[in-house]
Amino acid sequence: MKFFIDTANLEEIKEAYELGVLDGVTTNPSLMAKEGISGEDKVRDHYKAICDIVDDKVSAEVIATDFDGMIKEGKALAKIDDKIVVKIPMIKDGIKAIKYFSSEGIRTNCTLVFSAGQAILAAKAGASYLSPFIGRLDDIAFDGLDLIAQIVHIYQNYGFETEVLAASVRHTMHLVKCAELGADVVTCPLKVITGLLNHPLTDKGLAQFLADHAKANK
Ligand code: E4P
Repeated sequence: MKFFIDTANLEEIKEAYELGVLDGVTTNPSLMAKEGISGEDKVRDHYKAICDIVDDKVSAEVIATDFDGMIKEGKALAKIDDKIVVKIPMIKDGIKAIKYFSSEGIRTNCTLVFSAGQAILAAKAGASYLSPFIGRLDDIAFDGLDLIAQIVHIYQNYGFETEVLAASVRHTMHLVKCAELGADVVTCPLKVITGLLNHPLTDKGLAQFLADHAKANK
């Protein structure tokens, strides 16, 4: 299972990378705006700065929603660094763009996926990654994890090579359940990754070990 961090914050990306478990980064226009990154040059420089931290797979999202615009923007994003994966929304022209990039050998991440039907379309078009948004489905009282299970099952039925990238992951149990269900990748905030460290019995046990060691070595 791969871990991607879902942020455009360089410090958080560095912290996750230094932990030694990070496989990539996903960003979106909202996350870039949250870091105050705007304007073509600054956006490009910021993606480059992210690519310089991690080993591979940095999703950078197009803003255009028409085919020609997505191709132009996606090509420019892919030129920033070999690590870039072009993130394309699940819309009609997006599917055409994914097909185009797939034939050009440019990796894509199909984003804003909320149904199994959309997942089938993206895989048929040759998306490298598929991002179903678990948390946002949970927010409207649909079970996001059910969708992950359904897509993993369908992709296994046909041997689709598209990797299931569980997105909008809000807490550690989302991540653990995605692992049980066979998602290829999860993307989540840093706190979800570091949250996996926590167990009160670990803290209690370590305190006891250190106290016993101190007593025996007075
Ligand atoms: C996916 O790539 C998105 O950036 C992200 O996971 C959205 O998560 P949110 O619903 O917490 O904003």
